[in-house]
Amino acid sequence: MSEAEPGTANRFPFPRTCPFSPPPAIAGARAQEPVKKVSLFDGTEAWMLTRYEDVRQILGDPRFSVDPRKEHYPFPYASRKASLLGVKRSIAWMDPPEHGKHRRMLMRTFTQKRINEMAPKIQGYVDQLIDAMEKKGPPTDLVADLALALPSMVISELLGVPESERDFFEEATRLRMDGDAAPEVSLRAALEMQDYIDRLVSRKEADPSGDDLICALVREQIEPGNLLHDEAVAMADLMLQAGHDTTANSIAMSTIILLRNPQKLTQLRDDPTLAPAAVEELLRYVTPNHTQSLRTALADVEIGGQIIREGDGVIPSILAANWDPEIFQNPATVDFDREHSEHFAFSYGVHQCLGQNLARLELKTVFTTLFRRLPELRLAVPVEELDFKYNSFVYGPKAVPVTW
Ligand code: HEM
Repeated sequence: MSEAEPGTANRFPFPRTCPFSPPPAIAGARAQEPVKKVSLFDGTEAWMLTRYEDVRQILGDPRFSVDPRKEHYPFPYASRKASLLGVKRSIAWMDPPEHGKHRRMLMRTFTQKRINEMAPKIQGYVDQLIDAMEKKGPPTDLVADLALALPSMVISELLGVPESERDFFEEATRLRMDGDAAPEVSLRAALEMQDYIDRLVSRKEADPSGDDLICALVREQIEPGNLLHDEAVAMADLMLQAGHDTTANSIAMSTIILLRNPQKLTQLRDDPTLAPAAVEELLRYVTPNHTQSLRTALADVEIGGQIIREGDGVIPSILAANWDPEIFQNPATVDFDREHSEHFAFSYGVHQCLGQNLARLELKTVFTTLFRRLPELRLAVPVEELDFKYNSFVYGPKAVPVTW
């Protein structure tokens, strides 16, 4: 369990006392000072917002920038600062109008229709992975064998990254996200991964006949002169990271939460039509991007009675918003019947997650298959023995030993 060090009580990210709930200091801040100054790893300060409505207001306001090159951009970890500033910048860190131009190039791949077409393939992957778990026999690690494997296979296929590269890009992503890693270690991992993708894009430029997203970008955007090689590299790099790590942590955390709520699990197993609502509720509950979103003010803005000055770093906390009891009553209860289910696990506004339809489909397929195929599934160790990535940019368990 993560403990506060002396003198770091106001340090963002706040420590958790329970692996399944946000840090208690978030609820404290929301009750006492919902627009609050927090200190960061390097001693600089930023504003943290913890009320749902305030978070929504900032995320929808073009006067807040996502560009990490701004002086007071609120990096949560030194390693994140090094790895983000040391590589090519992609759409997640571009403001309009540059952002919109790049996002439109990718949107066609992620429409609901295109994602629905992937359903049989994703179902096939889930069945194949559970077959392998059964063949190997319990206990197995749900993270390695399903939660991480599935999104890695899906994003490799979508981008045209050979599956044999999985170990490499999973480990590089882990180091890029790890807030405890030395900055030079995170940076090296980021550079190695972008170098790999750089070579991959070059190979696809030489032969863009493949049926994958990078080949489509080469044919439709690079060749007509709309997109530079380096810009395509940054896009593919972001999607390879974002496309597997967040979904993997969502699957792993959600499975543990369901195993700890057997009544909900039975309800879901007996009635698969509940799966879409379960996916939304578990995304809200988990909010794997627990230190996001991160912005810098481009103008003086008044919010919640507080003036945020131009240039200030701002953290509209999507984790805090998703547990705001004004909006989500009894936020610590898993409830598939919430009247209000518009959570911010995928953020909000122009930067709202591009891959959300794909992530939802992967989660839904896992929930409707895993508990049906392995009805006796349970943790193979007491829950207290699970270890979590408290200081990672994306939160989740390191491993989940299961038996059945
Ligand atoms: C459960 C899984 C996922 C979660 C919780 C998640 C969460 C997020 C969040 C919170 C943001 C926005 C951060 C901000 O406001 O600054 C984001 C952006 C993004 N995500 Fe996801 N994501 C998930 C899965 C995926 C997948 C599967 C892909 C790709 C295939 C993806 C690609 C992206 C991209 C490209 C952006 C940047 C969008 C932009 O800036 O316009 N994500 N995601």
